[in-house]
Amino acid sequence: MRIDVLTLFPEMFPGYLGQSLLKRAIDAGLVSIEVHNIRDWARGKHQQVDDRPFGGGPGMVLRPEPVVECVEDVQQRGEPAGHLILLSPQGRRLDQRAVEQLAGHERLVLVCGRYEGVDQRVIEILRPDEVSIGDFVLNGGEVAAMVVIDAVVRLVPGVLGDEQSNKEDSFSGEPPLLEFAQYTRPREYRGMKVPDVLLTGNHPEIARWRDEQKLERTRSRRADLLQDDDASKD
Ligand code: ADE
Repeated sequence: MRIDVLTLFPEMFPGYLGQSLLKRAIDAGLVSIEVHNIRDWARGKHQQVDDRPFGGGPGMVLRPEPVVECVEDVQQRGEPAGHLILLSPQGRRLDQRAVEQLAGHERLVLVCGRYEGVDQRVIEILRPDEVSIGDFVLNGGEVAAMVVIDAVVRLVPGVLGDEQSNKEDSFSGEPPLLEFAQYTRPREYRGMKVPDVLLTGNHPEIARWRDEQKLERTRSRRADLLQDDDASKD
């Protein structure tokens, strides 16, 4: 998978991209990530990328020319042009199903918004898939882009090593359920013991216990995930 990130703050990315799982995926050639500075497409001596909003109001708006031209150039530089995403609090909300869908693309092009937003003509010209990571406002799309990359890359075959491990993640099944409680050594800590069933070696029994845990946790913490779902009543 190839991912291009278009941002005004490219310096935010190397630290994140250099961390273990991502670095390994990049080094193994499973994903390639390129970060582009939108300012390189700005015109004029001052390379201005933002301006005051028409109609007044606080803050600055990203001008359309550098964003549109950066996207067009970057998309033309590779094959396929890729699935274009604009990170924005106005977008559809990211969840594991959306992540799975995004992971199905060969190439993603992520545009990070900044300031009070981007000029509406960017959206009308490019028709991006607008994606929000939640109902809160970040200072820009960069952290949201990292969230998308982080969630998508772990679904790329080979990245996790153990192919099973993302199937057991929270939210990955149907209905989406939270994960069961995990335990490791020691068997007893501050008087609290690991549940006996996990020490039996009886794998069908363990699987049953974990399934019950998933349902029970989801019911008590995130009943919204079970709404309109008949499987959970069984
Ligand atoms: N940019 C600012 N807030 C955002 C959010 N919640 N999701 C995606 N991009 C954003």
